[in-house]
Amino acid sequence: MEYRKLGKSPLELSAITYGAFAIGGSMWGGNERKDSIAAIHASIDNGVTSLDTAPFYGFGLSEEIIGDALAGKDRTKVQILTKFGLVWDGSNNGKGEHFFDAEENGKIIPVYKYAAKENIIKEVEESLKRLKTDYVDLLQLHWPDASTPIDETMEALQTLIQQGKIKAAGVSNYSLDQVVTAAQTLELASNQVPYSMLNRSIEQDLVPYTTANNIGIIAYSPLERGLLSGKYFADAKLKSDDHRNGYFGQFNPEKVKALLADLQPLAASKNASLAQLVLRWTSVQKGISVVLAGARNAAQAESNAKAMDITLSTEELQFIQQALAKH
Ligand SMILES: NC(=O)c1ccc[n+]([C@@H]2O[C@H](COP(=O)([O-])OP(=O)(O)OC[C@H]3O[C@@H](n4cnc5c(N)ncnc54)[C@H](OP(=O)(O)O)[C@@H]3O)[C@@H](O)[C@H]2O)c1
Repeated sequence: MEYRKLGKSPLELSAITYGAFAIGGSMWGGNERKDSIAAIHASIDNGVTSLDTAPFYGFGLSEEIIGDALAGKDRTKVQILTKFGLVWDGSNNGKGEHFFDAEENGKIIPVYKYAAKENIIKEVEESLKRLKTDYVDLLQLHWPDASTPIDETMEALQTLIQQGKIKAAGVSNYSLDQVVTAAQTLELASNQVPYSMLNRSIEQDLVPYTTANNIGIIAYSPLERGLLSGKYFADAKLKSDDHRNGYFGQFNPEKVKALLADLQPLAASKNASLAQLVLRWTSVQKGISVVLAGARNAAQAESNAKAMDITLSTEELQFIQQALAKH
């Protein structure tokens, strides 16, 4: 495993950071709690020290499972990354921006983006309780909230750093302009954004700025939520309540299949799976601090961590670049 500094923050994270969205179950067709705990333990056993979660993932469940999985572990050897600013429990009383309606057990749950100071203070206390800890390593605004001035959110994060409740603060899904504005008030550790072989838009605008200003980029959905493992072109099936039934529709299946077919021999030559090759490629792209890899069970978690054992030569990286350009 490689360990990397996150921007100008004091944090050092594992280059593969465990992503705990799917183990929340909601939107992902559920997950067995024992498999989720085993995934976290397998990650740690294979050198992963950083875990990324959010209150929204499973409406608190993902954070709770992380809290349980870390019982008895040395807290100082693990970095917990969580978020705030997506409210589903009605506590915002209609304030903020309506984002979307989630569905859980047949019930519609309106989800709001709400990044006001009062909400951040409240949410962080709830996260600390679920995570069974007294500090968060990186607290991130989950989605921009146009109803709250950016400096109000950043000032609240600065206060939490001063209080020792969080070690560093970042944002997620922020545009370049929003990052530039936020950085006027707070020394931002990072921006967590989607980035994969199939979605490289940040290379044009965000990455040149964050690289020049030493702000971390945390890449999410590097496997495009499982699509780039190739298994959904083989025998794997999605449950009816899995959001990927819609999500995968944005990609051209023939093009993705052709890309994976081109990459398969290279993966095989390294005794690696396609998922491992994809994760390793993502981890060496310019400006990428760490790669968030989601995993539902121990086997996936171990395989994802071991992706960092692969070495890719300049020629091999060029070969991948050509395959991406072709498809
Ligand atoms: N800030 C945000 O708005 C945001 C948004 C999305 C994600 N994230 C973060 O980024 C993390 C990673 O993204 P993600 O979970 O959306 O997607 P991802 O990492 O691209 O894909 C994860 C999914 O792929 C499948 N998978 C994982 N490892 C595999 C392997 N070795 N072989 C075959 N299949 C494998 C698993 O699902 P199946 O087995 O069911 O296929 C897993 O749940 C999240 O967990 C979350 O922490 C943040």
